[in-house]
Amino acid sequence: MARLIDLRSDTTTRPTQGMRDAMARAEVGDDMMGDDPTTRALEEAAAARVGKEAGLFVPSGTMGNLVALLTHCVARGDEAIAGSESHICNHEGMGSSALGGIPVRVAQNDIRGYIQPADIKALARPWPRTVLACIENTHNRCAGAALTATEMREMTRAAHEAGLQVHVDGARIFNAAAALETTPEALVADADTVQFCFSKGLGAPVGSILTGPREFIDRARLVRRTLGGSMRQSGVIAAAALYALDHHVERLVEDHVNARRLASALVEMPHVRMDPAGTDTNIVYFDLEGVDGPLFRERLAAEGVLCSGVSPTRIRFVTHLDVSARDVEDAIPLIAGVLKGLPAA
Ligand SMILES: Cc1ncc(COP(=O)(O)O)c(C=O)c1O
Repeated sequence: MARLIDLRSDTTTRPTQGMRDAMARAEVGDDMMGDDPTTRALEEAAAARVGKEAGLFVPSGTMGNLVALLTHCVARGDEAIAGSESHICNHEGMGSSALGGIPVRVAQNDIRGYIQPADIKALARPWPRTVLACIENTHNRCAGAALTATEMREMTRAAHEAGLQVHVDGARIFNAAAALETTPEALVADADTVQFCFSKGLGAPVGSILTGPREFIDRARLVRRTLGGSMRQSGVIAAAALYALDHHVERLVEDHVNARRLASALVEMPHVRMDPAGTDTNIVYFDLEGVDGPLFRERLAAEGVLCSGVSPTRIRFVTHLDVSARDVEDAIPLIAGVLKGLPAA
């Protein structure tokens, strides 16, 4: 079979041999009883990478955000704020509202996912009590934009001044740090809690971490248990995440170079209207004009290149560990060829 170039998501990576070896060697125990040394090591190492006191290993980013909201919003009616294009508002089944009765109020974000500090302050209210502001970085639906440390500080300060806690959905915070030539810790220095994923740009098969003050994480551990998210010999997957932290962070810049190369080629192609937010990291969005999106994806797949469609006209490409510079060079003429051959919609 011809080689497949899978640009649907950075979640499609497969563990490398080195990662599989680390998984096979992992020392394990029953984590729910506190006996899994590899999971404990991961929780400590991951929390340290974002400058937080403690960490909680969770099966997914969605559960990391959900546990965070359920742990922050403790009283009935406590509400949270999140950006209009945030993953929390658009792709997580509104779990915090559905399962926790937490109202999530929507703050309009700009094309990079930034929320005006004044808007955060305006949304905060004493009753119903607003207790939390959620910030996303990099911003998935806003073309993978990397919000700077200054922007993060501005939003966080506004929230704190309004008496709110701040949770960062940093599913791809390492991508943001790589793009901005800084550390994840610097980007979330003022935030109270941070979730990030091992299963995206970092290339692990599964898992995310929720980090924050030890007292918060102790409570979050019980919330995770309530949700059925406690695990047993999770050291097998924690080992993959530890391996990713040690081996797959430095290389993220390669994904960003590949994404920019793809974007610079796409902008020259017929029917393509590029996202004005630009390409900061590993996510490239564009809109198709005058042709059918599903047909484009189908024909491109027949050529061995996969992408995602977020609407009938909006397309997403994501670069990652399993996509080389060579793959991108090979994909470009295939994409151009498919676009040229499409009938007018
Ligand atoms: C910004 C952001 N947050 C959270 C998630 C959820 O992660 P998971 O798919 O592991 O539940 C994603 C997934 O793509 C994401 O892009």
